[in-house]
Amino acid sequence: MKISIFGMGYVGAVSAGCLARDGHEVTGCDIDQGKLDLMKSGKTPIIEEGMVELIEGAAKSGRLHVTTVAQEAVNASDVSLICVGTPSMRGGGQDLSAVKRLSEQLGQAMKNKASYHTFVVRSTVLPGTTRNVVTPILEEHSGKKAGVDFGVCFQPEFLREGSSIKDYDKPPFTVVGTDDDRPAEVLRQIFGHLPCEFVTTGLEAAEMLKMTCNTFHALKITFANEVGRVSQSLGVDSQEVMRLVCMDKHLNISTAYMRPGFAFGGSCLPKDVRALTNLAKRNDVQVPMLDGLMPSNRVHVDHAIEAVLQSGKRKVGMIGLSFKSGTDDLRESPLVTLAEAFIGKGLELSIYDPEVNIARLVGANKRYIEESIPHISSLMRGSAQDVIQGAEVVVVGLGDKHLMEIVHTLVTEDQMVLDLVDIPDHHKLKGDYRGVCW
Ligand SMILES: NC(=O)c1ccc[n+]([C@@H]2O[C@H](COP(=O)([O-])OP(=O)(O)OC[C@H]3O[C@@H](n4cnc5c(N)ncnc54)[C@H](O)[C@@H]3O)[C@@H](O)[C@H]2O)c1
Repeated sequence: MKISIFGMGYVGAVSAGCLARDGHEVTGCDIDQGKLDLMKSGKTPIIEEGMVELIEGAAKSGRLHVTTVAQEAVNASDVSLICVGTPSMRGGGQDLSAVKRLSEQLGQAMKNKASYHTFVVRSTVLPGTTRNVVTPILEEHSGKKAGVDFGVCFQPEFLREGSSIKDYDKPPFTVVGTDDDRPAEVLRQIFGHLPCEFVTTGLEAAEMLKMTCNTFHALKITFANEVGRVSQSLGVDSQEVMRLVCMDKHLNISTAYMRPGFAFGGSCLPKDVRALTNLAKRNDVQVPMLDGLMPSNRVHVDHAIEAVLQSGKRKVGMIGLSFKSGTDDLRESPLVTLAEAFIGKGLELSIYDPEVNIARLVGANKRYIEESIPHISSLMRGSAQDVIQGAEVVVVGLGDKHLMEIVHTLVTEDQMVLDLVDIPDHHKLKGDYRGVCW
């Protein structure tokens, strides 16, 4: 294919070399003449393993061209990859000035081009940027229509500096965010051969994905380092600890606990997070990320409380009280916190939890409910029906299959549903549906 690449930095230069190597006709465009001169003479503009040979080979093949003129690059191609920088501004916001300036140039170039063209944003941008910034500028400056005269999509770049050619050839996946099938098909022709899944999704989801991945990497590094500092203060080998943490592919390095839902709770996580952060404090070890866990969890509970209070409705039916499906353990259940907040605000509350049947409760849980939350026990009902019928808001805090069927059957159009568990097929629910964080 004929491909133009804008921005000959790490992302653009590696892509230019690899695409030319793979047989495509590539035009690299940058405002930095120095970088282009290097590439023209077969030299790499960036220091990366394998780049010397890659650019030398690309230049020799005759398939790598360079220019500072956007119009020339657009004319010489059917698809353009936007790879300019998106650095931080002083306040932390994303500086889109290069993206905007380039979009203007590309729009102007498009004005003079008769054939369909595909624009692919590869720079890392915040959700909404492709739709609300890039596309309108392209339309304004070309006088043409996205989705008709040209296509726009966002394709996150997952390469890492230091191993970027290897990462280009073996990405975790290829993701294309678009509302339009045509750009996705163009990218499938270019990247479909790579040894990974090719996924299409919404524009904003793809943009958010890239931000989420980088934030997740930062979170993992910070987590390992905080664990390292606490372990060090105890004389415990943190390398061994984290090696063992990573050996667990079932609960640790896995999809477990990685879906948006309700707050964590139960008899283990809160108390152990508190114990570890308390130990860190006593040992004079600063762990701001670990210290943030309990407050963040509380913010999540407050967010759910707010959703109900803001609705203005006063009759609340809660499905679930224990901290997760299949247990009667009420200790530190965030659903208990939620129930207490509703009671405190004077709402009319009824609760059903199949595992928390007051009559059948025994042992520690019976004592807990009688001694610690006696005001809640009187609100417990014997069936989901009793709770849903008559409620203005149904809060679904347990996700077991049978309960989900009941919710689907019983919820009526005039009821609001606050979903804490990601109810399957929730778009089929009759009521006013709200996800707690989706
Ligand atoms: N570096 C990485 O490892 C990496 C990985 C994935 C994604 N990204 C993202 O990709 C984007 C580019 O990153 P980078 O590290 O390659 O940036 P970079 O700063 O190394 O390169 C950007 C290039 O764009 C050029 N440029 C600026 N305005 C231009 C214009 N109007 N026309 C043509 N060229 C122009 C600059 O001269 C520069 O050479 C960023 O959004 C970044 O967040 C980077």
